[in-house]
Amino acid sequence: SSVLLLNGPNLNLLGKREPEIYGARTLDELVAELKEQASSNNVQLFHKQSNSEAELIDAIHQAMGKINFIIFNPAAFTHTSVALRDALLGVNIPFIEVHISNVHAREKFRHKSFLSDIAQGVICGLGTDGYRYALVHAMNHLSK
Ligand code: DQA
Repeated sequence: SSVLLLNGPNLNLLGKREPEIYGARTLDELVAELKEQASSNNVQLFHKQSNSEAELIDAIHQAMGKINFIIFNPAAFTHTSVALRDALLGVNIPFIEVHISNVHAREKFRHKSFLSDIAQGVICGLGTDGYRYALVHAMNHLSK
């Protein structure tokens, strides 16, 4: 089975961007670790990061019929995007929403998510480890 890891805007700066909030690990390091975790469980992990809402929507559409589970950090689009919500509803692929930081402990505009109520679950505030936990869940879910 296959899992799509999707990362939204500014996450290409991981490791350089506000490291006190988002940690020191770069996106490349993180993705390499997750790919290893997946492949040792016979799961294929695909990854896409984009700063463009349109590209993220296209990636979700292309996942239809190919991808069994999505791990998604929509970054700032979490708090703004009805279009990403509609894309996820449209393809009907189960997903986990991941945030590195605890969005509820931050500015009020980060408390609102357009995706949480349609996600299978939400992980936030556990740093980049949150992605690993999401992948463990995805693999458990897929093996059932
Ligand atoms: C984030 C939280 C968002 O509010 C923010 O816009 C991000 C990253 C996180 O992973 O903590 O870019 O999704």
